[in-house]
Amino acid sequence: MTPFTIAIDGPAAAGKGTISKAVAAHFGFAHLDTGLLYRAVGARMLTGTEPVQAAQTLTAADLQSDQLRTPEVAQAASKVAVIPEVRAALIEFQRAFARRAGGAVLDGRDIGTVICPDAEAKLFVTASAQVRAERRFLELQAKDDTTTRAQVLADVIERDARDSERATAPLKPAADAVIIDTSDLSIEAAIQAAIAAVTPRM
Ligand code: C5P
Repeated sequence: MTPFTIAIDGPAAAGKGTISKAVAAHFGFAHLDTGLLYRAVGARMLTGTEPVQAAQTLTAADLQSDQLRTPEVAQAASKVAVIPEVRAALIEFQRAFARRAGGAVLDGRDIGTVICPDAEAKLFVTASAQVRAERRFLELQAKDDTTTRAQVLADVIERDARDSERATAPLKPAADAVIIDTSDLSIEAAIQAAIAAVTPRM
C-alpha cells in the first residue's frame, strides 16, 4: 500500500492518544505518539543531559520507560520542546515513520502544521481545559492519591500556554484540519467521529 499519513494534533489530555491508537487499529496503520520523543528528551534533561545532545542521541530504549508518564516529565518535555534544535533533531525520524509503507498515524502538537503538512488526513482533537484536567486528574489519582484537581488544572493551563505561545511549531490546528471537540463526547463517540472524518479521504 502507498503511504497514507493521518496527523492528529491537540492539547494535553484531549483524548488524542486513545483516539490515535483506535484509529490506527481500525485502519491497520502503525502509530507513533510523538509526545514520547519530547518526554524522553525531557527525562534525560532531568537526569543531567543537555537537551539538544539528548535529542540528537535518542534511542528506541529511551522511549520505553514507564517514568515518561509522570507530570514532572510532562513539564520537562514542554520545556525542551521550545528549543528549535531539539525539534529539528526529531523531524527526520517522524517524517520517515509517517511515510512508511502501510500507513501511519502520528499524534502530537505540530504534525499537521510542520512535520507532515501534506498528510492525507488531519484532525485536531481538543476539549475545554476543565474537562481535560478532570480526565488527567482521574488518571493520576489512580497512581498517586496526593494529586489535587487544582494542581492538575494549573499544570494543564501552564503546559497549554507554553505549547501554544512558543515561536517554533506552536500548538494550533492546521488550516485544513477537522476539529473534534471531545468535551461532551464519550471516548467511543470521539473515536467514531475521528474514523468518520478520515474514511472519505481513503
Ligand atoms: O503529548 P504529550 O503530553 O506526551 O507531550 C508532551 C509535551 O511534548 C507537550 O506538552 C509538548 O510540549 C511536546 N510535544 C511537542 N510536539 C509534539 C508532541 C509533543 O512539542 N509533536
